[in-house]
Order: sequence, then structure tokens, then C-alpha cells
Amino acid sequence: MASLSEAGQARVRARSNIALVKYWGKADRKLNTPAVGSISVTLNDLWTDTEARFDPALETDRLLLNGVERADQLDRVSRCLDLVRELAGTDIRAKVTSENNFPTAAGLASSASGFAALVGAATAALGLTCAPRELSILARRGSGSAARSVFGGFVEMHKGTAADGSDSFAEPLADAATWPLKVLVAITARTEKAVGSGPGMSRSAETSPYYAAWVASHPPDLETARRAIAACDFELLAEVSESSCLKMHAAAMSTRPPLVYWNGATVDCLNCVRELRAGGLPAFFTIDAGPQLKAICLPGHEGRLKSALAGIPGVSDVLVTELGPGLERLE
Ligand code: PMV
Repeated sequence: MASLSEAGQARVRARSNIALVKYWGKADRKLNTPAVGSISVTLNDLWTDTEARFDPALETDRLLLNGVERADQLDRVSRCLDLVRELAGTDIRAKVTSENNFPTAAGLASSASGFAALVGAATAALGLTCAPRELSILARRGSGSAARSVFGGFVEMHKGTAADGSDSFAEPLADAATWPLKVLVAITARTEKAVGSGPGMSRSAETSPYYAAWVASHPPDLETARRAIAACDFELLAEVSESSCLKMHAAAMSTRPPLVYWNGATVDCLNCVRELRAGGLPAFFTIDAGPQLKAICLPGHEGRLKSALAGIPGVSDVLVTELGPGLERLE
């Protein structure tokens, strides 16, 4: 990796991920440790490319997201850069230029790929050699789900128990080639969501009568998903993933004021996937804090699933991707 005197600049690609066993709720807000672990898959074709350029002439950090200066997001980015600066022993400011190749902040985990790419690019630009686990911990400080996007394939995030958050990181369970599932994303809205996942989960923890049950019933879901992935048992993974998704949304919906992330097309997509599975097509759904529905299927079935989802009124596009790798340095 380049040292600051040579370059002070690096570009990194991180992929988005979707959780099959969900994360919803924080243990420690400052350290951004999760109240529950989670298991995700990394998506090959949905990515963020981020360049971090440290420049002694800059008085403040800058953030350009998809070509637009985003002062509203800068605080969160600067806080994450501060952690990297602290590690490198420097206070030089950076210009961060970030491009997503998918709709931003509509439940497509742009914060996951965004913060994973940010810490990857910033550490490389400052000449730091960080182990993937350290990158995962840094990414977690920016966004809980970003800790998982450091890795490819099937990934588990550990909630950890250490007071300093040092055991709250993600690690790979199996690579993409081990079980080459397909993921479809049915786009049902392209607007940014009204309540982000951070404030949403804090509000659920404070007000949902189901939140305690969500946390208490979570560990067996992680155990089942681990077992399903190790055995490539699709039915078992389908059952536990849909259950975890609906439990998370039950906690969200029972929050005051309520958090209903779905629209009509989301529900129609959910019913479509359930009907197809009942008819023998190996597919299941999951939904994050947004209206897009993600369907996961065995390879060879994505064509039929895509045309079924694309035919639902309100679905503007269906993306199809395989599972992909972790952080990638770009030249
Ligand atoms: O990483 P955050 O803070 O945006 O939270 C992500 C929460 C969900 O996407 C809803 C679930 C998950 O585990 O990714």
C-alpha cells in the first residue's frame, strides 16, 4: 500500500450486502455495537466505489456522493475518518468521492457498502496495513451492516461482549463459490426513506413491546442459519431468513410512531415469492429497512422469478446478482 508521502490517495470497491438473519438494535450507540449478531450475503453487482484523497491543503473533509457535495452526511463520514486518522497519527483532511451503482438509501444498504469502501480507501490512502478484522471493526463504527461488507460470500457479524467493542466484528462463513445462490432485488421505490435504520432501531428499542422478544429469540436463528449454510440446506435457510425478516419488521411496525418500511408492491412481491415457493420454486424473500424486496433463489431459477416479480405493478426494475467478494482495491 502507498504511503502518504507517495500518494495519500486510494480507491476501493465494496459491495452491498443483505442480511438473512437481521440486525436491528444497538448495544452501545457510541461504539455502534449491535444488540444482536447477524448473517448476510455480499452482492456482486451492487457496489460503492470510493476514493479517499488526503490533502494537507484541505481545511475540512469533503464528501461527494454520486457527484453531489453532501454536507448533510459529512459528520458521519468525518467521524469515521477521525478513527482512521487516529490510527495513522495524522490530522490531514480528506476529500471523499463516492459513487453507488444502485439507488442510495432506499433500503439497498448503501451505508453498508459506503462505509466499508470508506474505511478501505482511507486506511490504504494513509498507508495503514489493517487486517480484515480491524477494517470490519472500523466499518462498524460508521454503519453496523458495513462491518459485513468487508467480506465476500456468506458473512457472520458477532455482536461481541467486550466493553471496548473489540470483539464486535464480522467474519466470513463460506465464500461465494461454495453455494452460488442468486439474489434478485425488486425495486419498488427510488426515494430516500423517511426514517433511517439508525434512528429507527433506537426508537424500536425504546418503544416497541416486541423489541425484547426480538433480541431474546435471536440466537437460535443465527445457529439455524449457520447450520443451513454449512449444509447448503436451502429450505432451512429460507425458513429462518423469512422468519428473521418478519420478526424484525414486527418490531419496527410496533414502534411508536410506527415504522412501516413497506409499500403495496413490497407486499405483492412477498406474496409472489411465497406462492412460487409453495409451487416448488426454490426461492425466499427478505426486506431491509426500505421498500425493496430481495428474493434469494437457487441458480437456474432466477429467470422465472425475475419475470414474476417484474410483472407486479409498482415494480420498476428487478436487478439480478450473484454473491460477490469482499473489499477490492481499485487502481
Ligand atoms: O447498518 P445500518 O445501521 O444501516 O443497519 C442495517 C439494518 C438492516 O439493514 C435493516 C438489517 C441488517 O442487518 O442489515
